[in-house]
Amino acid sequence: MTGTPALELRSVHRVYGFGPSATNALDDVDLTVPSGRFVSLIGPSGCGKSTLLRLAAGLERPDRGEVRVHGVPPAQACAAKMIGLVPQSPALLPWLSVLRNVTLPQKINKGSARRRERIAGLAEHEFVQSVQSTPSVPDMRELLVKAGLGEAMHKLPAEISGGMRQRAAIVRAFGLRPDVLVMDEPFSALDEFTRESLQDQLLDLWDELKTTVLFVTHSVSEAVRLSDTVVVMAPRPGRIVDVIDVDLPRPRGDRLFGERRFHEYEDLIRDRLRRAWRGEAA
Ligand SMILES: Nc1ncnc2c1ncn2[C@@H]1O[C@H](COP(=O)(O)OP(=O)(O)OP(=O)(O)O)[C@@H](O)[C@H]1O
Ligand SMILES: [Mg+2]
Repeated sequence: MTGTPALELRSVHRVYGFGPSATNALDDVDLTVPSGRFVSLIGPSGCGKSTLLRLAAGLERPDRGEVRVHGVPPAQACAAKMIGLVPQSPALLPWLSVLRNVTLPQKINKGSARRRERIAGLAEHEFVQSVQSTPSVPDMRELLVKAGLGEAMHKLPAEISGGMRQRAAIVRAFGLRPDVLVMDEPFSALDEFTRESLQDQLLDLWDELKTTVLFVTHSVSEAVRLSDTVVVMAPRPGRIVDVIDVDLPRPRGDRLFGERRFHEYEDLIRDRLRRAWRGEAA
């Protein structure tokens, strides 16, 4: 794969606390995510998934090592609104309608396109082209309709269901056309069918907007269905133990669940996770 990666972590260490009670949240983590890939992180609780996302989103800095988003530090990428974050619970402003919630970031970040172009000027040709060839502001009404929120767009968050709020948060994150979309267990609180429908919508949006996605999940089948690559992590210290490319055709609709290769990937990842739980080396 050529070109500047969308995300790069090199020898990243992150320690919380001091002395004997210190937690090695990430220990010597290396990860390269090429532009446009859908990458999931999976692993036991406490293995550093959210820490890795926070570092990638520029919310924290590593104690050692380097993090780069399209070749620049995450804080710089963040200022240029290149990174979109979907947290575990959708933080919508309760006094604004769904439509006003999702369009707010565009209104308050008018300068981001210029900052982004300046960064694009530093990056590889391929990335410059992708920035220039796409309009910087997508039509949010259209995205809401695509996400099944056409009729809900003028309602307040309190007037819609939890699944709809989660979809609104995803649409909002797509609103600034982030180059990297970081999602921390976004579907974990949803029922199975709402979850599958949101997976479909996420894949559609991803396909259309060519965003790079870094996605945390505890669900093996969700990871296999969505991802180009599944990164398996283990705790104490938090580290990457396996990187598995999922070589299944797209689009990945319902029929995938009946296919042998889908279940082979599930079994493989489950086996690696089991080892991570037991603390065995991969
Ligand atoms: N701000 C913090 N202060 C102290 N320790 C922290 C902090 N944030 C995370 N940790 C510790 O770092 C380790 C990794 O935490 P992290 O939240 O990244 O795990 P995770 O893989 O996201 O877990 P989960 O699946 O439960 O969300 C854990 O042992 C956690 O207790
Ligand atoms: Mg977490």
